[in-house]
Amino acid sequence: MYRPLRVLTTCVSRSKVRSQGERNCHGFNDQTLSEKSYWTTRYETPRVRAVDWLAPADVIADHVVSKIETLSTGRSGSLVRLLDVGCGTSHVPLHLLQSLPYPLQLVCLDYVPGAARWQSDVLAKSSLYNKLSTYTCITGDVRALPFRNDTFHVILDKGTLDSLLKDRRRALQSCDMMIIECLRILRTGGVLLQITDEDPDLRIRLLEEVFSRIQVSAHVSYSQVETHGYECFMYALSL
Ligand SMILES: C[S@@+](CC[C@H](N)C(=O)[O-])C[C@H]1O[C@@H](n2cnc3c(N)ncnc32)[C@H](O)[C@@H]1O
Repeated sequence: MYRPLRVLTTCVSRSKVRSQGERNCHGFNDQTLSEKSYWTTRYETPRVRAVDWLAPADVIADHVVSKIETLSTGRSGSLVRLLDVGCGTSHVPLHLLQSLPYPLQLVCLDYVPGAARWQSDVLAKSSLYNKLSTYTCITGDVRALPFRNDTFHVILDKGTLDSLLKDRRRALQSCDMMIIECLRILRTGGVLLQITDEDPDLRIRLLEEVFSRIQVSAHVSYSQVETHGYECFMYALSL
């Protein structure tokens, strides 16, 4: 049976922060999840395995496709430019390429090269739903994104902001940088989708504080994602 890894906020929600050094139910402390060395160890090994954090890839891909259909680019069936930030070894990119009927220009980005390589290998073997769809897998930091302004219709963050928020010293700074960068590269009418199991009372407050600090007037809405009995949310941020 599918068992999603849910260590990001179920074991430790920000309202119940554990003491330093305390280990969560998976045997590592939560600060670890914000450290590049941890992700490098996971992805730079000979046998990297597919892992979907928080929720199954097909469920999330369906939610993302439904959201795309509400955007003007989705309604017109024209090219959709989508960036998955902190793609890791998730199968969401694969499901999107296999299920989106319109042409998709997909970019997978992670700050560990092993994750981008893994995605590239997996996607190379997949069949595309739309023959005009393309994908690129690159190494990059979500806090300094290597794209021009107004590039993407959709940015997907599944568990990546959650990971940055585990950094006890730089959580808010990193969070602001990530949101600034994502909003900068979103096209007009585009949307940043965050998948997390963080409750709306915490996440909406966090985002509103970020918008106030970085002085943007952005909107956020959310919907619940059905995930085999677990509670998970999709937040939609737009300008
Ligand atoms: C919790 S995992 C989620 C992976 C994948 N999105 C999923 O749902 O399974 C967080 C991912 O974010 C990546 N990551 C963390 N900080 C990052 C940063 N500053 N820039 C780019 N990627 C980052 C990690 O390498 C890891 O792959």
